[in-house]
Amino acid sequence: MTMKEVFPGVFKVGKKLYTVNMAPGKKVYGEKLVRQQGKEFREWTPERSKLAAAISNNLRHFPFVKDAKILYLGASTGTTVSHVSDICTEGIVYAIEFSERVFHSLLELAKTRKNIVPLMADARKFERYQWVEEVDVIFVDVAQPDETYIAMRNAAEFLKKGGILMISIKSQSIDVTKKSRHVYEQEKQKLEKDYEILELIDLEPFEKNHALLTAKN
Ligand SMILES: C[S@@+](CC[C@H](N)C(=O)[O-])C[C@H]1O[C@@H](n2cnc3c(N)ncnc32)[C@H](O)[C@@H]1O
Repeated sequence: MTMKEVFPGVFKVGKKLYTVNMAPGKKVYGEKLVRQQGKEFREWTPERSKLAAAISNNLRHFPFVKDAKILYLGASTGTTVSHVSDICTEGIVYAIEFSERVFHSLLELAKTRKNIVPLMADARKFERYQWVEEVDVIFVDVAQPDETYIAMRNAAEFLKKGGILMISIKSQSIDVTKKSRHVYEQEKQKLEKDYEILELIDLEPFEKNHALLTAKN
């Protein structure tokens, strides 16, 4: 079957998602590599990436265009960052991660991809990466109780007017006593005053108790 482009740089065959590998021959997290139409595609697994899970669940707003500048908070070893790097080939991904343990893998990944800038920093202390330019997209996946606050503080500092803020909400990190959809609603309300809410996508069955909230500055 041939690849169908569902968003620029994002391809689908059946239910499987793919991006074009920027570093041919190299896998990032054990994903499958597929050759077709003279290109190498990497499978993008929704069980491993919340952005892929949101696309699989019919995300409508996808701001990761070819030349987008992105600030990614909570990069971990770079699973999702690597696919964003495949898509935004002429853009740049500032990837923030505070855990030294996983940062090492992120550094290794950045060596093979020219558009990833790995930064070991706490997303709560953005003064440490104050020099980062204004960006088109901020993607937040830090799984912290004050995640929305972290997202809003970074957005006030780095997101351009009309830019997109995406927050992966893990309801269990915010309030285990509340039903997930109540937590999603509560986090959405925090944003509503300053941002236009574009969509809220539940990430089940790929990620339990997670949703992806997208808002416009
Ligand atoms: C759920 S994982 C991210 C997975 C990753 N986004 C992906 O899809 O491949 C959350 C990451 O956020 C990092 N993190 C949590 N709080 C942070 C903070 N305040 N500043 C920077 N990184 C943080 C954790 O160390 C962890 O690696």
